[in-house]
Formats: sequence, structure tokens, C-alpha cells
Amino acid sequence: MTVTIDRQGEIAVVTVDNPPVNALGQALRQGLWDAVGTLDADPEIRAVVLVCAGRTFIAGADVTEFGKPPVPPHLPDLVARIEAAAKPWVAAIHGSALGGGLEVALGCRWRVAVPDASLGLPEVTLGIVPGAGGTVRTPRVIGVEAAVDMVTSGRPMRAAQAAKAGLIDAVIPGDLLPGAVAFARQALALPMPKAASARSLAAPDAAFWAEKEKSVAKAAKGAAAPLRALACLRKAAEAPFDEAMAFERETFLNLRGSDQAAALRHVFFAERAAPRPAALRDVEPLALRRAAVIGGGTMGAGIVAALRDASLPVILIERDDNAVAQGIANLRGIFDGAVKRGKLTPAQAADRLAGVAATTDYAVLADVDLVIEAVFEEIGVKRAVFDQLGRVCRPDAVLATNTSYLDPRTIAEGVPHPERFIGLHFFSPANVMKLLEIVPAPQTSERTLATGFALARLLKKIPVRSGICEGFIGNRILKRYRAAAEALVRRGIPIAEVDAAMRGHGFAMGPFEAQDLGGLDIAFLQREGARAAGQDVPETLGDILVRAGRKGQKTGGGWYDYAPGERRPLPSAIVTELLAGAITPGAAMEREAVAQHLVAEMAAEGQAILDEGIAQSPADIDLVKIHGYGFPRWRGGPMFATGIRS
Ligand code: 3HC
Ligand code: NAI
Repeated sequence: MTVTIDRQGEIAVVTVDNPPVNALGQALRQGLWDAVGTLDADPEIRAVVLVCAGRTFIAGADVTEFGKPPVPPHLPDLVARIEAAAKPWVAAIHGSALGGGLEVALGCRWRVAVPDASLGLPEVTLGIVPGAGGTVRTPRVIGVEAAVDMVTSGRPMRAAQAAKAGLIDAVIPGDLLPGAVAFARQALALPMPKAASARSLAAPDAAFWAEKEKSVAKAAKGAAAPLRALACLRKAAEAPFDEAMAFERETFLNLRGSDQAAALRHVFFAERAAPRPAALRDVEPLALRRAAVIGGGTMGAGIVAALRDASLPVILIERDDNAVAQGIANLRGIFDGAVKRGKLTPAQAADRLAGVAATTDYAVLADVDLVIEAVFEEIGVKRAVFDQLGRVCRPDAVLATNTSYLDPRTIAEGVPHPERFIGLHFFSPANVMKLLEIVPAPQTSERTLATGFALARLLKKIPVRSGICEGFIGNRILKRYRAAAEALVRRGIPIAEVDAAMRGHGFAMGPFEAQDLGGLDIAFLQREGARAAGQDVPETLGDILVRAGRKGQKTGGGWYDYAPGERRPLPSAIVTELLAGAITPGAAMEREAVAQHLVAEMAAEGQAILDEGIAQSPADIDLVKIHGYGFPRWRGGPMFATGIRS
């Protein structure tokens, strides 16, 4: 039974039990529909508490039903029925009340929640708008401005914030059910609050909407749903309730069948499948209690911060005392930055730092469970580090390298117990970026691999398994993408046009401005290394720029010029001159064609990666590009966007 009814005197308790997340599938909708009828007809009952079993309140509509025709009872009708019930309902919320879950709660006369509950309307992140009154009731409950922020961003609120906004009536600190029943008993003694649909709202003027349209469009970067949600909210503010409901439902049903919604659903399910690969279901990972990071530079410091965010004590090893001090300074910089942005309190930042022991002495690593190496990208340096680790670490401790381009097999040579060796490729900044490429070497055991995935879950990252090839999945596709972009420039498409095309396609940045930000020298040095090793690596346009001292923003210019202290790229006469000999002017291409060509190039490399067995599925490649390289989520990734689906 998905819905059961229990009576506690004059209060009925309706319990929803539809694992894993109490999604509002047809059976649940029907169960709630029937419960309203049953309880309205029960003369003993004066109020109803709606509560959920398991880890969460109703987490939303059942997303798996979205590809199919809607089956009654429809959710808006159910919410209206709860709202119109003769006996008032109280939503008792734990876990997440999201999307349709919050809409059901908004149909209740009162809402109460435990302190760590979160409430939100994340529909826009699925390419749709709320479909059961979310855009119409929410502004009537918390005001238009707060509703606009909540619905167009899709960001949930915690209970305390929700109470402040008026979205819930009380925070229940102790046991939820008895607290909610007691709340219901007390509430019955007070005047009945108006149903959300019957409340009035203050409609803002046209200037308000014009400004919101601008800011929402900017943040959406091409995603359609946030602006459609804004249109629904405007309708809710300016038209009668029923008209606004009809407008919202129509918008919801239209978007549900859209390409963007399909792409976002694809990403939603891929993200949920990634952390638990079926092949490792029965493999027990090593318990991770203490970790160490070797190297406290850009990546090492970021990895330490990520481990500390997950509350693991960390040992940081550097090569000398100065480098230890610099490593600590790098960490302090990260945590201070988090305090400035309001992500951490000063006390939390101090606690993060206090959990790091920095030293040059490898002997203290005798009892760590996991070591992540992030020293210079030089094979000799890395081999020496693993030599030491082999001597001091427990034989079952997992030893990982964060190398970007070196062959993990070469790094692993000579490591005793090589079954515990693995590549864990983080992305910069490592405490922020969600992607973690997990790269097993031939001797890596299933347990070590499972530990890599367990680490990703602990750090709340999206893990993707990659086979061994130059650049693994992400950087290998990046290389093809950059080469294809350079090829367009060689044919005469202006650098700024290529960048504008990709931004217009939904990327945060184009390929050239992104290189200026990250620095052109890293890829240059890698190519030079390959050349020194006798490989035939053709001269790139980027090489010409680096040889002329143009390494990007940090040297005042790369593909573009930059005014001192500014980040706005300016077309560069010097670059035009430097590259003149390599460019054949004449080609013209529409921006959309440029973008489609470059995405097709990425997908072609992705297909090669699949054919070679480097990636496990097209969806994995999509996750890599979305979470590591700024591919627009609403396009579903390069594979999905070009029709390559598993
Ligand atoms: N529909 C169907 N399945 C869902 C689902 C949903 N809305 N939400 C989660 N699931 C599934 C997941 O795919 C996963 O399945 P699996 O075990 O087979 O892989 C399982 O439930 C558990 O999900 P998580 O791994 O994400 O569990 P967590 O405990 O980490 O997180 C959660 C729980 C915070 C509720 C998270 O699942 C979540 O954010 N879910 C999506 C919520 C959402 O977007 N709701 C809005 C839906 S749209 C809507 O309601 C439209 C309405 O306006 C008409
Ligand atoms: P970095 O130069 O900022 O940091 C390297 C650190 O290692 C320095 O602090 C140095 O003092 C320390 N170190 C060097 N030899 C050491 C030794 N023997 N023992 C202890 N510490 C030692 O380099 P960065 O950028 O952090 O890169 C580190 C690794 O991460 C490289 O393998 C790189 O390819 C990889 N990587 C870099 C990314 C990036 O965006 N910078 C992204 C992903 C991986």
C-alpha cells in the first residue's frame, strides 16, 4: 500500500510509502485522492497530518512518467482536492519537499518541517515548469519576488529560511510525527488560514518584470524553462487564479515534451547512475577514515579542501619547509575565499584548516587509508613519490595519482601491491568542480576501483570511469575541440566569432577565451614534451602565441589582449600579425554552424573513445563534458546532442 491511514483521536495520519523517494506516480496520486474522500466522510476526524515514510517527503512528480501520456488523477486536481477538503491537512515534511511534493504541501492548510528539511521547485532544472500550481500558489504564500527567485533558479530552501519566508508555519525540532499531530491539535483551536489559492498578492509593475526577464535570461544561458517559469509567475500575479493555473499547465505540458527537457532528464538519470556502477554493486570499498595528499599546489590544495569539506582528517606532504608553508597558505586562501563568499563561517574555516597536518615527513603516512599524489607533472618526480609511499604506507592503503597526461601504468611500475594503485583525476578548482575521472590501471583491484567511487560519493562528486589514453576522456575530447576550433581560425573565421558562437550555444566561454583564462602554456609544454620524445606533433597556432610570450591572461594576453587588471577579451592586432602566415582568409560560417561543427567534432572523438572501450557509455562522456568542461547541461552533452545514446 502506498498510502495508509491511521487515526489518533480526532487527527488522522496519512502516511505515504512509495520508495525510494515517494515520487508521485499514478498509484500514489490515486491513494491520496481516495484518502481525502475517506477522511472527509469520517465524522470522528477534524484534521489530517500528511507524513512520509523513508528518507524523504514527496520528492516530486515521477520523472519516469514524463515520456508517457498523463494518467488521472492529475496532480493539479489532486492538489485542489486536498486544498478543498472539508478536513484541513497539515504537511509534515522531512528530507525534501520538491516539485510536485511541495505543490501537494501548498495544497495543505499548514506546513511544518524538521530543521534539515529542504523545500523547493527544481522543475526548471529538468527543463519544465511546475505543473500543479507551484507558480500560482507560491507567490500567494511567500510573495512574488521570493517566488521568482525560487522558481526560476530551482534552488531549494532549508527549513529555517522557509519559515522566515512564510513557506512553512513551524519548524519541528524533535520527532516529526508527534510534533505535527500536536501542531494540528493546536491549530484547530485557531481561525483557519485561507487556502493558498484564495490569498491575494501584490502584483509588481512592468519595470519589475522587465528587469527580472533580463537577469533570468542571463543566468539561463539558453535554457528555455526559467523564462517560461517567469512568464507563468507573471500570469499568476496579473490574472485570476484559474486562468493562471491553465496557463501554467499548458506551459508545463508543452515543455515536458521538449528537446531540452529530454536532455535534462537524460543528465538527471545519468548523474544518479554514475556513482553506483552495476559492476561494483557487490564489491566492498576500503573504509576511508584518514587521507593524505602529496603536493600542496593548485590541485593538491584543492583536493585537501575537498577532503576536509567531507570531514576527513588530512595529512599534506610537501617537498621542503617553504613548500609546506606555501601549501598551508594556498589552503588558507581557499577557505578564506569560502568565508568571503558566505559559504563557510570563520569558525568552520578554522576547523577545516585545523584538520590538516602539513609536513615533509613521509613516515606519518603509515596508517592512512588513501593517498592522492598531486606533484609536478614529471614522471621522475612522481615515481620517486610512489617509491616512498610504497615503503611507508599500509599494503592495503589506496595510492592514487592525479596525473593529467602521464600514463598511470608507467607511474605504477615498481609500486608494491599494485592492485591498490589507481588514477583519480580531479578538475581545477578541485574543491568546486564536480567531475572525478577514475582511471584503473591493469592491475587495479575491484576493491580499489570501488574505493574510488566511494570517495566520489563522499566528496559529492560525479565519478566517471575512464580507460587509459592520452588525456583520458575529458582532455582528449578537449584537444580535438581545440584543434577543430583552430582549424576554423586557419580558414579565416575570426577568433572572436568562434568564441561568440560557443557562448551563443550555451557554453560559459568559447575555446579561445577559456585558454586565455587557464593559460596556454600547460598544453604547450605537453606538446613540447611529446616532441622531445620524438613524436610528430604539428605546430599549433597556440604554439606560435606561447613562443611569442603570450600565455594568456596571466601574461597580459594570449588569443586576446587584456587591459591591465581587466578580464574582458579585446581583439589583438599582435595576434593577427603573429598568425597571419598560418591563416588563409575567406571562409565564412554562421555562428550556429560553427557551434554545431565543433560539437560534432567532440562527439566524433567521443565515438572513438567508446569504440576503444575507454568510456563505458555515451552518457558517461556527456557527464564528463558537462561537469568538467562547461558543456551546456540543457543540451544533454555532446553525445546526446548529436543523437548518440545508449
Ligand atoms: N522521479 C522518479 N525517480 C526519482 C525521482 C523522481 N522525481 N527522484 C529521484 N528518483 C530516483 C533516482 O533516480 C534514484 O533511482 P535509483 O536508485 O534507481 O538510481 C532514486 O530515486 C534515489 O535518488 P537519489 O540517488 O537522487 O537519492 P538521494 O537520497 O541522494 O536524493 C532527492 C533524494 C533529493 C529527493 C533527489 O533524488 C532529487 O533531487 N530528486 C529529484 C527531485 C525533483 O526534481 N523533483 C521535481 C520533479 S518534477 C515535478 O515535480 C513536476 C511537478 O511540478 C508537476
Ligand atoms: P603545482 O605546480 O601547482 O603544484 C605541484 C606541487 O607539488 C607544488 O606545490 C610542489 O612543491 C609539490 N611537489 C613537487 N615535488 C614534490 C615532492 N617530491 N613531494 C611533495 N611535493 C612535491 O601543480 P598542479 O597544477 O597542482 O598539478 C599537480 C598535478 O595535478 C599534475 O600532475 C597535474 O598534471 C595534475 N592536474 C592539474 C590540473 C590543473 O588544472 N592544474 C588539473 C588536473 C590535474
